[in-house]
Amino acid sequence: MIVLFGGEKGGSGKTTLATNISSLRVSKQPDTLLIDTDRQSTSSFWCSIREEKDVIPRISSIQKYEKAVRTEVRELNKKYQDVIIDAGGRDSPELRGSLLVCDKAIFPLRPSQFDLWTLGRLNVLVETAKEINEFLDAYVVVNMASPNPNVKEVMEMKELVKEFTQLNILETVIYERIVYRRAALNGMGVTEYIPEDIKAVQEVISLYEEIYGEIIK
Ligand SMILES: Nc1ncnc2c1ncn2[C@@H]1O[C@H](COP(=O)(O)OP(=O)(O)O)[C@@H](O)[C@H]1O
Ligand SMILES: [Mg+2]
Repeated sequence: MIVLFGGEKGGSGKTTLATNISSLRVSKQPDTLLIDTDRQSTSSFWCSIREEKDVIPRISSIQKYEKAVRTEVRELNKKYQDVIIDAGGRDSPELRGSLLVCDKAIFPLRPSQFDLWTLGRLNVLVETAKEINEFLDAYVVVNMASPNPNVKEVMEMKELVKEFTQLNILETVIYERIVYRRAALNGMGVTEYIPEDIKAVQEVISLYEEIYGEIIK
């Protein structure tokens, strides 16, 4: 399966979620490739820290840009059981190319108005991609939600996404937690990082289960 983490905004959590899901996926399916199509190369950098720090399992990664995303990713998916793409944060040839080849597109969005304004454009991008990639499924996942229980932003955001015909909302909500930054600095996902933040671990596992339709014990 080819899973894309994409979107039109920088800083919404594409790399954070792509790397966290990669580290979990590779522990179940060693034959997983992480493709970085963002010229900022953040997830490639994360992989190199992972290697330097000898974090296992290792994750194969590769960078692809422009047309190569569209033309080469399907070929790579013949060599690897699973492909995870981290696409850059704007409407780019890489994002459009990835949408044409992936099975699932995941758009992490912060519950901020600026992120929510991109929903309409994402809806159109998915609609256009589906003319060619008809089985594409696109999902929004709330990232960096406030852990303050008085903040009602998650409910509001979930309601808003329902208005967009091409976008589904994932049940899992990823909250703003310091462990996401700490784990990333060590080339890890939160499920690998010690001391464990159990809430973060549970939400990443829940995200994984929603994406792959598999239960992790
Ligand atoms: N759930 C979260 N909790 C805390 N920090 C987060 C979370 N998600 C992302 N971040 C931090 O926010 C910044 C932007 O996230 P990143 O994944 O790089 O976004 P993108 O790849 O979409 O540009 C990074 O510093 C990252 O560590
Ligand atoms: Mg990124």
